[in-house]
Amino acid sequence: MRHSSLVVVANRLPIDDSIAPDGACEWRRTPGGLVSALHPLLRHTPATWVGWAGGTGPAPTLPDVDGVHMRAVPLTAEDLRDHYEGFANSTLWPLYHDAVEQPEHHRRWWEAYQRVNRRFAEAAAEVAEPGAVVWVQDYHLHLLPGLLRAMRPDLRIGFFLHVPFPPPELFMQLPRRAELLRGMLGADLIGFQRVQAAHNFAQLVAKVLSLPATDRRIGVDGRVVRIGAFPVSIDTAEMAALAARPDVAARAQRLRQDLGRPERVILSVDRMDYTKGIEQRLKAYSELLASGHVKVRDTVLVQVAVPSRERVGQYQILRERVEREVGRINGEFGRVGEPAIHYLTQPFDRAELAALYRVADVMAVTPLRDGMNLVAKEYVAARVDDTGALLLSEFAGTAAELSQAYLVNPHDLEGLKEGLLAALHAAPADVSRRMRAMRAHLHEHDIRAWARSYLSALDETGPLVRRLVSG
Ligand code: ADP
Ligand code: G6P
Repeated sequence: MRHSSLVVVANRLPIDDSIAPDGACEWRRTPGGLVSALHPLLRHTPATWVGWAGGTGPAPTLPDVDGVHMRAVPLTAEDLRDHYEGFANSTLWPLYHDAVEQPEHHRRWWEAYQRVNRRFAEAAAEVAEPGAVVWVQDYHLHLLPGLLRAMRPDLRIGFFLHVPFPPPELFMQLPRRAELLRGMLGADLIGFQRVQAAHNFAQLVAKVLSLPATDRRIGVDGRVVRIGAFPVSIDTAEMAALAARPDVAARAQRLRQDLGRPERVILSVDRMDYTKGIEQRLKAYSELLASGHVKVRDTVLVQVAVPSRERVGQYQILRERVEREVGRINGEFGRVGEPAIHYLTQPFDRAELAALYRVADVMAVTPLRDGMNLVAKEYVAARVDDTGALLLSEFAGTAAELSQAYLVNPHDLEGLKEGLLAALHAAPADVSRRMRAMRAHLHEHDIRAWARSYLSALDETGPLVRRLVSG
């Protein structure tokens, strides 16, 4: 058994399920902000990633990927249904995203949540060397820090939440709110995307557990747990270099040609998720087409919406509604060879995504609620010539950083339409000024800066930070 001084624990392993004949395995960069964020950090770092390899049944033995050891945790069909699709994605996910869909509560989901958290904790405890840093990720694993601390008090435990942490009045709905908070408090450092989230957490801990809590420190069981905001980011330089590659620039030109050389290309790239505001965006676009403010001949919308969590009812309903609406809009406003919306549900490789970002004059990122939204950051990083307008929801974590974007409230249909028109018709000088400022921000606040600030807070004395964030 391999032991590591750094163990990352996340529900998902960052790998493809296809293994080449020579046994090699590739990083999976398909949809999902968590893997996108951690991938550039951990590559070539001696670490172990504990997670689920997808599917049910016994855990596969996986080869290392770029020097990172993969430790698969098995999920049964019941675990998948009750933990992943149930408690994680039908209770916590909707509740944490402003309850834009109704969260469901079932007692058997809670049992599965506990069981799966325990299994992940046991796997992490097995692979962590004495005194190791264990970095737990996201809402699937709230109980893990507490369970792990009980098993291995020698470890330094971090927890980072990639999604929003809701206001107390929403969190209070959870039947197991006290256990969830206690579980997280097993960590030494709890990181959130936004300052408001840390504040919500502190308020809840004081209210539900009657513990002394400020927005920075919480006292529990004679320990101090630190909390704070650490907005996650991307490998800005890598995306910029990719977008600047001649083959990517050529591909972008080709895409524009294939789209019929429109004056304006609008792009959206989302996981097919009800938090992303896809339906609201389509409605706004359709109304602009109907009123003649946007014409299919001059402007096209490319909507990439890769299916996600496909067995969960709310996701199935969303996909049906989106596809019906895209069909309706194309039927009503498209012309032969000129659809109003180019709708794509495939996962793309990074170069193709970079080419799409390069071809987009306007990038529409309008989630109803989003912890961060890395797509918005990737778009900015890819605009190496300082062109391109970012239309961004005020309800994405990204908006707190990229205030030069064209900000909109996606719940306000008229505001959304106005924002889209403003981005489409903005003066080039204004667009460049904004883009330049956003690119400068992201070059400074990239994924390494994120890891440096989080890990130096977690592991103040250790060598880990130097090793992870060098280069
Ligand atoms: P979330 O974490 O909710 O999925 P983010 O915007 O933070 O949202 O992260 C999504 C990540 O998935 C980004 O890195 C983006 O590039 C990637 N992604 C989204 N759609 C696709 C797609 N069709 N093919 C490949 N990667 C995608
Ligand atoms: C978001 C979550 C991640 C999750 C990803 C993809 O980024 O914060 O934890 O991995 O979505 O979702 P999935 O359910 O496919 O893992």
